[in-house]
Amino acid sequence: MPLLIQNGEIVTADSRFHADIYAENETITRIGPNLEVPPNTTVLDARGKLVFPGFIDPHVHIYLPFMSTFAKDTHETASIAALIGGTTTYIEMCCPSRNDDALEGYLLWKSKAEGHSACDYTFHMSVTKFDSNTEEQLRQIVADGITSFKIFLAYKNFFGVDDGEMYQTLTLARELGVIVTAHCENAELVGRLQQKLMAERKTGPECHEPSRPESVEAEGTNRFATFLENTGATGYVVHLSCEPALRAAIRAKQRGVKLYIESVIPHLLLDKSYAERPGVEGMKYVMSPPLRDRRNQKPLWDALSVGLIDTVGTDHCPFDIEQKLMGKGNFTQIPNGIPGIEERVNLLYTYGVQQGTVDLHRFVDAASTKAAKLFGLFPRKGTIAVGSDADLVVYDPIYKGVISASTHSGNVNYNAFEGMKIEGRPSAVTVRGRLQVRDGVFVGNRGHGQFLRRDTRTPIASLRA
Ligand code: URP
Ligand code: ZN
Ligand code: ZN
Repeated sequence: MPLLIQNGEIVTADSRFHADIYAENETITRIGPNLEVPPNTTVLDARGKLVFPGFIDPHVHIYLPFMSTFAKDTHETASIAALIGGTTTYIEMCCPSRNDDALEGYLLWKSKAEGHSACDYTFHMSVTKFDSNTEEQLRQIVADGITSFKIFLAYKNFFGVDDGEMYQTLTLARELGVIVTAHCENAELVGRLQQKLMAERKTGPECHEPSRPESVEAEGTNRFATFLENTGATGYVVHLSCEPALRAAIRAKQRGVKLYIESVIPHLLLDKSYAERPGVEGMKYVMSPPLRDRRNQKPLWDALSVGLIDTVGTDHCPFDIEQKLMGKGNFTQIPNGIPGIEERVNLLYTYGVQQGTVDLHRFVDAASTKAAKLFGLFPRKGTIAVGSDADLVVYDPIYKGVISASTHSGNVNYNAFEGMKIEGRPSAVTVRGRLQVRDGVFVGNRGHGQFLRRDTRTPIASLRA
């Protein structure tokens, strides 16, 4: 059924104007004033509202065997939570471990999502080893439309790669025009510091941050940048959490390394004092890199506001309280991760735009457009234009609410942002022209999501400046 959004104020990464938007066959076909209403059209009145391109979360974990358990979501639960929060596309980390076959892993992750996601999706393909099969398998995966790899410098013996494997991955990525995303922490130092703290009987969640200090992340970031510099590959640091790592990444950008930076909502809004809360209250806030000293937040927000930090994701990674308790008495066993797929856009709007730190266009860019450009989805996704998918968020900037596990839709029994106020939320969310959410309620089709292959109108990463 055709869709008409009337009377809204359209905001993209580089424009702002009042117009109607008409979509048919999943695509925006007309933008202009006072568009006519053909019969059988779904009409949404957006008077007094902002209309954004569907938001893109560039970093989520949904199916994830990790730390002796599984992340709590299904693609159905995660995608519905995403949509309620205005995210119409997510990019999931496909994470087979070193012991798994990469191609089998890729097919497994795809099969988990297919027919179960209510919003669109694609994957970053993790390279967790580089053996004699890897190159051929990665070529096949890229031929299937994947535009990005993921490497972990942390999580030794599970997801982590050594420097030789990083070099091989980057060299292949450069040839294929694939961007490489990286979790940058020095695995050796993390392991040694964990052992030392445990030997000193320092076992609680408050020890997680000291086991992975800022210098450990700065070293990983600097090393990744150095490998990019010497292979000519294009890279993207995921979940950058602190000023020393930020400085390392910006230095690399300034000397011409093709490096992009992601920050995630927990590092922008939460700090290590949350993980210092006693018992399970602290365990809820264990993620890697860890929540940091609060003094890191201003440099992150400042870099975000001027575009030195390119994107804001979530690193959505849900574990229930019972799963967090697996690390009682041993912080190294607390499943790492904080969920946030539902909250990201409203938190960034509230604490970025409403507080005057991030302008509206940078907000759209960081939460949607830039990820679409970097990961081969633009201009199908990430903007409002004739020919783009009708992924649209009619946003109510007047709405006021409070985040709570008692009202969220996510499939996890706590909310890391419990009690935080939000000012603004989506009042309608469409995916390829289909109305999926109305005023915080999922009203759509659960299996509507599509796997996204590279939009061939996007130049490949290695050709970008
Ligand atoms: O703590 C985190 N971040 N959990 C998910 C895995 C990862 O490192 O992204
Ligand atoms: Zn990570
Ligand atoms: Zn992650």
